[in-house]
Amino acid sequence: MTTSHAQILDGKALAARMRQDIGREAALLTQTHGRKPGLAVILVGADPASQVYVAAKQKGCDSAGIASFSTELASDTSQQHLLGLISELNQNPKVDGILVQLPLPDHIDSETIIEAIDPGKDVDGFHPYNLGRLAARQPLLRSCTPYGCMKLIAETGIDLHGKECVIVGASNIVGRPMGLELLLAGATITITHKFTRNLQAHVERADIVVAAAGKQGLIQGEWIKPGAIVIDVGIHRLDNGTLTGDVDFDAASQRASWITPVPGGVGPMTITMLLANTIQAFKTHVGETDMGNTEVGNTDV
Ligand code: GUN
Repeated sequence: MTTSHAQILDGKALAARMRQDIGREAALLTQTHGRKPGLAVILVGADPASQVYVAAKQKGCDSAGIASFSTELASDTSQQHLLGLISELNQNPKVDGILVQLPLPDHIDSETIIEAIDPGKDVDGFHPYNLGRLAARQPLLRSCTPYGCMKLIAETGIDLHGKECVIVGASNIVGRPMGLELLLAGATITITHKFTRNLQAHVERADIVVAAAGKQGLIQGEWIKPGAIVIDVGIHRLDNGTLTGDVDFDAASQRASWITPVPGGVGPMTITMLLANTIQAFKTHVGETDMGNTEVGNTDV
């Protein structure tokens, strides 16, 4: 039997609290402006995991009082047709946010699609404009998973200034924007990737580890510095049906001060931040805020 020393960073509980606030704000905004905030979700093809995510996004909208418009397209939909739909949604005044579920079929170029979305409606925060705003310390719509990880880290009460943060994985949707978020908050960042030599040596000196490599059990518990904070973005289904992450949870929780479980850690936060971004985009569209996100990190770095 293992005894856990780390405190659990409970994403499910934090997401539930935040969704209540988002629901209240959506109701007030609907009353003031005579329409609900609206999110359009596009799914191309019938990937089972994507169908589950899209259903969860719609359910999240429903319970927060956000209108959701969903379009399911056949897997052989042309890129041109998809671009046409995005163009219509860009013009539609009832739509504040547009989300195209990834991955897309191979014959469609994801970068072209992401760039076609109006940056003011890019509630995934994937458009190069929004990534650029974050890089330039002026974030507007922030990528949902890294933004959710920042909310979880804030729950620990840690001051990020000067902390050694090691992000494992350099994807456009998690690793890179996660690095930019932590940099904005005053941390010293290392982003590791498939060409990194001696991953263990990087992880061993980290005050905060964000595991987003998409490789089950890549991060061994013995690598974790005593007292470190461990954020596990990975999610993998084992043959016996249980879900697990990129980190060896049992061994890591012997050493960490705080750790996110899988499931129930980062996962519930991603959709929560999508709903928060939709509210933010709505406020910008109705003229309640011109700069969108006033809740920036520390900009003195
Ligand atoms: N596929 C996996 N994660 C995501 C996400 O956060 N947004 C979109 N659009 N697609 C995804």
